[in-house]
Amino acid sequence: MAKTLYMVGNWKSNKTLEEAKKWIQKYSCQVKDARVKNVICPPFPYINSLEFPLEVELGAQDVSPFPFGAYTGAVSAAMVSVAVKYAIVGHSERREYFHETHQEVANKAAECMSSQITPIVCIDSPYLKDQITALDPEIYNNLIVAYEPLSAIGSGDPDTPEHADEVSRRVKELTDNSVPVLYGGSVSAGNVADFVSMPNIDGVLVGGKSLDPVEWSDLVQVAYSTITE
Ligand code: PGA
Repeated sequence: MAKTLYMVGNWKSNKTLEEAKKWIQKYSCQVKDARVKNVICPPFPYINSLEFPLEVELGAQDVSPFPFGAYTGAVSAAMVSVAVKYAIVGHSERREYFHETHQEVANKAAECMSSQITPIVCIDSPYLKDQITALDPEIYNNLIVAYEPLSAIGSGDPDTPEHADEVSRRVKELTDNSVPVLYGGSVSAGNVADFVSMPNIDGVLVGGKSLDPVEWSDLVQVAYSTITE
């Protein structure tokens, strides 16, 4: 297998604790290969109360743009760093509903770096250059970018693999050419092979289909088989 494959499931603000525990019981993926990063991002309160199988790593869905301090309600990167290796920052839902700016997202990514968390920075093509140039180049050696076109998120209408690959290539060009780039937006077990087989796409960021443990197991399995065939 030529590349490390990042499979990132974002549960968003879904699931009771009981439902989250059931997900783990029904999870049945047989892929156990260090080159596959199988990352689930549960809501903050569940991060410390769930026991996932060993091959599943944890990510946060967000972090504060500030360090420890008087920032009521904020969860700093340092607080979650004991439990997670990754954190999604700048998801389009955060940018839209919580009015996060490119600079705030860049600050969150910098906070992740200070706490040894790999930020998964979400971007979209119309603002791609501004979103990338807001980031401190010092984080390039521990950064993942996720290209998520707005029209594809939760719509059942994904981007074409060719276009997603072209955007990923541009992201690599704008960074240091070694940053892994993921595609996100209506990814399923039925289409994941088309994306992960593209030369510039290093994995996928999945919302809806990560909520079902059987679908998630299939998704990881299909992606893995595609890359190792
Ligand atoms: P979706 O969401 O897979 O449900 O389209 C993707 C995302 O929001 O990251």
